[in-house]
Amino acid sequence: MPALIIDGSAISKSILAEIKAEVAAIKAEKNEVPGLVTILVGSNSASVSYVTLKVKTALDMGYKEVQENLAADVSEADLLAMVDRYNKDPSIHGILVQLPLPRHIDEKKVIYAIDPDKDVDGFHPVNIGRLLLGGDEAKFPPCTPAGIQELILRSGVRISGAEVVVVGRSNIVGKPIANMLLQKGPGANATVTVVHTGTVDLAGHCRRADILIVAAGVPGLVKPEWIKPGACVIDVGVNRVGEKISEKTGKTVAILRGDVDFDAAKEIAGSITPVPGGVGPMTIAMLMKNTLSSFKMHAS
Ligand code: GUN
Repeated sequence: MPALIIDGSAISKSILAEIKAEVAAIKAEKNEVPGLVTILVGSNSASVSYVTLKVKTALDMGYKEVQENLAADVSEADLLAMVDRYNKDPSIHGILVQLPLPRHIDEKKVIYAIDPDKDVDGFHPVNIGRLLLGGDEAKFPPCTPAGIQELILRSGVRISGAEVVVVGRSNIVGKPIANMLLQKGPGANATVTVVHTGTVDLAGHCRRADILIVAAGVPGLVKPEWIKPGACVIDVGVNRVGEKISEKTGKTVAILRGDVDFDAAKEIAGSITPVPGGVGPMTIAMLMKNTLSSFKMHAS
């Protein structure tokens, strides 16, 4: 039987609708709204399209949205000064500096400069530490891992007791999702294995997975024979493999391919995310959720 296709676009829409309703209620009661600043340096085309979507979604949620577009040659000191200004601005609850940054800027320095209590990306080491501790300590789960966890839960797959295999050990996906799913508590409590470029038998590990999360950045890496029949497969890969003219807009758009051979995998998996339309839309929904959490945290 072909797999259930996990519709990240539809799930993210319903989460965003919940957030929008909550923000409208807060505004009616207190005349206050969450504030998000998005800082984009330069004009990397992928970054521009991600930030445009984040801005549009924040405005749709009813947030105060401040968009800062800085020239590619802005100095590190000027960028740090801007971050500091928003750290001190009480109307801003979330600060997002779009990555990657130009080479002359130390990315680490910028992330470390963001107030951890406004770090809605969850990239600051304080928030990584909080995530590791788990429970109430975890303030801002990084958006892509949070979206993955939500997709698994909302597609009815049991995480507790499951064998989870994560392919990839990046700081923004592999390491955090592995830690989130091994926590004791609801929506977690799994047995987690992380495999990576140093792993000897990649296929053998993947075949044991009840839940297979692939964030390797290698198009079509996971073959159908690596998938346990009935497994839940979450494909985090967004690989630009070419360009095409959009039938809708007539504009040139990227052809995206995931890390999993989707057409073959969907015949074996129990449930699977498509690319695009799987994990991608969830990342923005979770950014909105973190910004709302930050607003509430600052209010209380
Ligand atoms: N670049 C690619 N993904 C992300 C993200 O989730 N947050 C930020 N700040 N930059 C990114």
